[in-house]
Amino acid sequence: MKMITAFIRHEAFEPIRQDLLEKGIPSLSITEVKGSGRQKGVVEHYRGASLSVNVRPKLKIECVVDDHEKDVVVETILKHARTGSIGDGKIFVLPVEEAIRIRTGEDGGEVLQLHEASEMPS
Ligand SMILES: Nc1ncnc2c1ncn2[C@@H]1O[C@H](COP(=O)(O)OP(=O)(O)OP(=O)(O)O)[C@@H](O)[C@H]1O
Ligand SMILES: [Mg+2]
Repeated sequence: MKMITAFIRHEAFEPIRQDLLEKGIPSLSITEVKGSGRQKGVVEHYRGASLSVNVRPKLKIECVVDDHEKDVVVETILKHARTGSIGDGKIFVLPVEEAIRIRTGEDGGEVLQLHEASEMPS
């Protein structure tokens, strides 16, 4: 299992979410974060003062999938998050040891995303 963690622009999220859903990957988390990339702080002007803004708002996506679904998640994020401008964000892929559905106690890759055998909530 892998966790794909991506830092993206806010406007890229909805197209990514929709595309992943259509590909059978509905389960993910998002967090509003602030961060910095390799650029130096951006100077902003506020009430006559120059402020150096060292961190900028981004959206963090976390999505845990079976190994064979990793590439489709990465490609979907790249497709919608890349504008070609600086600050498009970054994707990290991490190994995941265990996944357990609390309701049933089931574990393993089957609990992560939609699978044909799984029940759907009504
Ligand atoms: N090495 C890193 N570790 C943790 N978070 C990171 C890292 N690099 C980037 N981020 C997060 O991703 C956000 C976007 O990074 P950003 O796209 O500016 O990366 P970059 O390497 O500067 O690329 P670019 O040249 O396209 O701007 C950052 O604001 C930060 O939240
Ligand atoms: Mg940057």
